[in-house]
Amino acid sequence: MKLHCLFVCFMVFLDQANCLNNGLALTPPMGWMSWQRYRCTTNCTLYPYECISEWLIRNATDLLVSEGYAELGYKYVIIDDCWMMTSRDDLGKLHPDPDRFTSGMHALSNYVHSKGLKFGIYQDYGVKTCAGYPGLLGHMEIDANTFAEWEVDYVKVDGCNSDPWTMDEGYPKFGRYLNKTGRPMVYSCSWPYYQREQNVPINFAAIAEHCNLWRLYEDVQDSWGVGAGSVRDIMDYYANRKDVTQYAGPGHWNDPDMLIIGNFGLTVWQSEAQMAVWAVLAAPLLLSTDLANVQPELKHILQNKRVIAINQDPLGIQGERIHTREKINTWVRPISPKVGEHFSFAVAFVSYRADGMPYRYNVTVLNLGLRNPAGYIVNDLFGTSYCDEMVKPTSLLQVRINPSGVVFLELKAVSQKQCEQEEESKC
Ligand code: GLA
Repeated sequence: MKLHCLFVCFMVFLDQANCLNNGLALTPPMGWMSWQRYRCTTNCTLYPYECISEWLIRNATDLLVSEGYAELGYKYVIIDDCWMMTSRDDLGKLHPDPDRFTSGMHALSNYVHSKGLKFGIYQDYGVKTCAGYPGLLGHMEIDANTFAEWEVDYVKVDGCNSDPWTMDEGYPKFGRYLNKTGRPMVYSCSWPYYQREQNVPINFAAIAEHCNLWRLYEDVQDSWGVGAGSVRDIMDYYANRKDVTQYAGPGHWNDPDMLIIGNFGLTVWQSEAQMAVWAVLAAPLLLSTDLANVQPELKHILQNKRVIAINQDPLGIQGERIHTREKINTWVRPISPKVGEHFSFAVAFVSYRADGMPYRYNVTVLNLGLRNPAGYIVNDLFGTSYCDEMVKPTSLLQVRINPSGVVFLELKAVSQKQCEQEEESKC
């Protein structure tokens, strides 16, 4: 009996040590990441305010706080590729480039922490990072320990220059080294991205067990609709990958890549569309922009509390594009509060039209798959088309959507009792 119990305990212990069990990312991570806006800029003489450096990271940290992002939940400050020296030291340890990170990584991490924020860093599963700096291969344990020593809170592990057939073993292995440090670090994986690229079968259940978030598709580019990685292309990709929706949930998320809002390629309306669809997808909200120069209208979008609340909904159910009609893409996400068996919903109508006039689009609540007989209270999260209005499943929703824009609605389920009260107060 005793022996049996010990055996069971041992198995439970093994199991816990085996999966990622850091208790982090219960809602999609929010913060700032250097890559999309600043890339691998290392020439600080030519680009003193844009090169990957201590200054850039401290400045982003300061601005997250002073511009009001931090208090809304944008708390991870993540350095992407190109922070390292080009080789390891004699003991195999990584060091940051000494000219660009003069005070060292621990000091930088302390600085980020001193402002109440969290510190993230980048590494790569292969021999080299995508930009050619030393990768994890052969150094997993020492790197995990170094990151813990620097008090890192988030590690993005890319997958360039590696064999994707080994990732089913290798990514969990690094996760175990992270666990072993005893320091909880969000673990962001590019494991399925590289397997997809090389037609390696993807085990999403394993990925969701071992990673807090994972990239599957192309790097986001600063464009609404041109080429692979444009915002539209990423939306369409995820719209057609309904098979991955089920793997998202508290602690593990699909990552369609950074927000490009605040940069050069999106209009105000397109920015609203990216924000809305990223909220429906329960996507990480990682800004990658010059926070000192975000136009007020765009800042307003990034700081829309009700949209952030949908992104961060505690149920953590990822939404989907349910249909496209008349070039209007309808995205629906179940959210809280749940009333009986009925969820509340976020609904985004994203227009791919280009015909000038805002397009008038009508759809019944039932046609969106919403069946709560007592109805819903509707609010328009970016515009003014609905303000606390009651609708029933048979009601017709009527919206006008700007070309390449969005109308983003919240439909809050009500109980029969609430519905009667609402109706009384209307009388
Ligand atoms: C890959 C990743 C990007 C970024 C770069 C860095 O392309 O997908 O997000 O990290 O590498 O080199």
